[in-house]
Amino acid sequence: MSTQHAPLAVLGGGSIGVAFAVQFASSKREVRIFEPVAERLAVVETEVRARLQDLAANELLAEPVDVVLGRVRVTSDVTEAVSGCVLAQECAPERPEVKRELFASVAAVNPEAILASSSSALTPSEIGGEEPWADQLIVAHPGNPPYLIPVIELVPGPRTADGLIDAAAEIFENVGLRPVRLTREIEGFIFNRLQGAVLREAYCLLRDGIASVEGIDTVMKDGLGRRWAFMGPFETSDLNVRGGLEAHAARMAAAYESMGAARGQHDPWTPDLVAEAHRQRREQLPLDEWEDRVRWRDLELMRRKRLLG
Ligand SMILES: NC(=O)c1ccc[n+]([C@@H]2O[C@H](COP(=O)([O-])OP(=O)(O)OC[C@H]3O[C@@H](n4cnc5c(N)ncnc54)[C@H](O)[C@@H]3O)[C@@H](O)[C@H]2O)c1
Repeated sequence: MSTQHAPLAVLGGGSIGVAFAVQFASSKREVRIFEPVAERLAVVETEVRARLQDLAANELLAEPVDVVLGRVRVTSDVTEAVSGCVLAQECAPERPEVKRELFASVAAVNPEAILASSSSALTPSEIGGEEPWADQLIVAHPGNPPYLIPVIELVPGPRTADGLIDAAAEIFENVGLRPVRLTREIEGFIFNRLQGAVLREAYCLLRDGIASVEGIDTVMKDGLGRRWAFMGPFETSDLNVRGGLEAHAARMAAAYESMGAARGQHDPWTPDLVAEAHRQRREQLPLDEWEDRVRWRDLELMRRKRLLG
């Protein structure tokens, strides 16, 4: 069976497992959820149905709930869950020994399957170590819940087989997710490193009495977040200053360097680094299209203003 049609396994029917099953099944894939704990086993299908009903009520489900739910099978038998699947999305508790034991049992039944861990904080090396199946292992870290937050970070370990990240990316794209490939493992991946940078500063501002929790959240919610909902920090800066990232850095790099130094962090935007970021942005957006993109940004902000006020 081609990778575009073969069933997908979800290992662990908790918050993330249920949410992955919703995403996979609503993208027309057969899903088998393995859940070993009896109390969870009893409620997984009900939870999947409830999420699908919420999506349907918000006009976000293309088919009737029962049709989508018909693609989901819940089982306490790992062999039944993973036989014939192309990818096993592990959503078990965040303990390396639990994940390791689970992957060993999957690899024993289905040595071809891509082993994808949802782990938020463990790297492929920490999970796979010297295990024989470590070449089939990646971390595929979702947002929560993956049926509403489409990005999924694909993280290889040093032993991950060549081509495995690309094969996983194709499967995830096929079920409506937006994979981002990391070149190698790093603590926190990208999602939590960006989130961590913002949180670190938020705590510093609170500690120093600069503003309240509510005030700091408002600057994000009614300020930065309005743009960050549809552009990343590079595109935001690129569109903020005529001339793009190089012009932005010429104007702002010294100020940001000083703010970083005051927090004990010395990571200046060197000329080479800025030139590389600018080069990559120009591949995405030639400067002669810059004005049009600024207008696009403003129209996107207007759409959000109509929704959010
Ligand atoms: N919750 C989040 O915001 C979030 C976001 C991204 C990634 N993650 C990651 O997803 C994974 C699951 O997190 P969660 O929030 O869904 O946890 P959870 O506690 O809600 O669910 C874990 C599920 O795994 C089951 N389980 C227990 N032992 C198992 C075993 N040996 N094999 C298979 N399943 C087993 C549990 O019964 C439970 O249903 C973690 O690695 C976590 O770091 C979580």
